[in-house]
Amino acid sequence: MNTNPKRFSNVNHHDDAQSDGSILAPVTVIGLGAMGSKLARTFVNSGYDTTVWNRTPEKAAELVGLGASGATEIADAIAASPLVIVCVLDYDVARHILEPIGDKLSGKVVVNLTNGTPEQARNMETWMSSLGADYLDGGIMAVPSLIATPHAVILYSGSETAYGTYEQVLDSLGTSHYLGPDPALAPLNDLALLSGMYGMFGGFIHAVALAGTEGAKASDFTTSLLMPFLQAMMSTLPEMAKQIDTGDYSAKDASLAMQAAHDTIGEVSRVQGVSAETFAPIFELMKRRVEEGYGGDDFASVIELIRKRRSS
Ligand SMILES: NC(=O)c1ccc[n+]([C@@H]2O[C@H](COP(=O)([O-])OP(=O)(O)OC[C@H]3O[C@@H](n4cnc5c(N)ncnc54)[C@H](OP(=O)(O)O)[C@@H]3O)[C@@H](O)[C@H]2O)c1
Repeated sequence: MNTNPKRFSNVNHHDDAQSDGSILAPVTVIGLGAMGSKLARTFVNSGYDTTVWNRTPEKAAELVGLGASGATEIADAIAASPLVIVCVLDYDVARHILEPIGDKLSGKVVVNLTNGTPEQARNMETWMSSLGADYLDGGIMAVPSLIATPHAVILYSGSETAYGTYEQVLDSLGTSHYLGPDPALAPLNDLALLSGMYGMFGGFIHAVALAGTEGAKASDFTTSLLMPFLQAMMSTLPEMAKQIDTGDYSAKDASLAMQAAHDTIGEVSRVQGVSAETFAPIFELMKRRVEEGYGGDDFASVIELIRKRRSS
């Protein structure tokens, strides 16, 4: 992460020249919801010449108090900076607010940090390109309070030139990861990471509910037992990933046949009065893989039941 604002000696904008003749890169933020406001505040605090616009203009007041320029018209906000960050509710909203001023986007770099799908990202790039704008899609893997800390990971994909030019500016928001020129990659990986997170959350609530049936306090159980165990289990992921990459799933420590021999977790959950509905789908997949003759495989081979087949 970089906390120094990038200086552009070749950008001719406003009269905020620094002592070395360069100027701070101007940034425009479109959308001042919980996330957009935090992005804009970060740019202001990092010293960027920041212009903001929001459908509900009152939300700009606090940022203007901090030093941002509040634009009444979205066209003025776009005109203020070569770099336009968009962070609104969804892609339909982004398109709806940008459509009327599409002709003003020519020559701009548009970084869309609105959550969406890979298809929406590709369509947005096609549209931006037809308007003469350079497009970067982004996925914010953080809540607003984590923005501007190293814990905020932001995924980017799309124009390599745009990313190269503005990498340092974007780094002020958190840890940037550029995934490649296909704009679909940021939303795809964003959703993949969230899927991993929800899998963990599902396991977490089941584990806490089960341990709680005999009086364990959620916080004690979580910090003293669950987190150390999950951290140890995390270290097995690279080996599983290697098995998936090579297609060699031969079990070394724990075969699927052994793991799926009995639905002990499901049965004990029922006895203890806890629903096993977050665990059941995983157990069903393990059992099916064993029934299909892969009991000697490791857990990673379950991926063969759910993933898209590669075309040969
Ligand atoms: N908050 C998070 O933790 C988080 C984390 C990662 C990613 N994100 C993503 O970041 C994006 C923004 O999230 P947020 O938390 O800032 O949402 P939010 O607080 O609900 O703000 C939504 C923004 O969209 C604007 N908007 C909604 N409908 C509109 C319309 N019809 N026309 C014009 N503007 C409209 C709102 O304008 P008004 O102020 O005028 O209503 C506001 O600026 C979303 O795509 C979200 O998935 C959020």
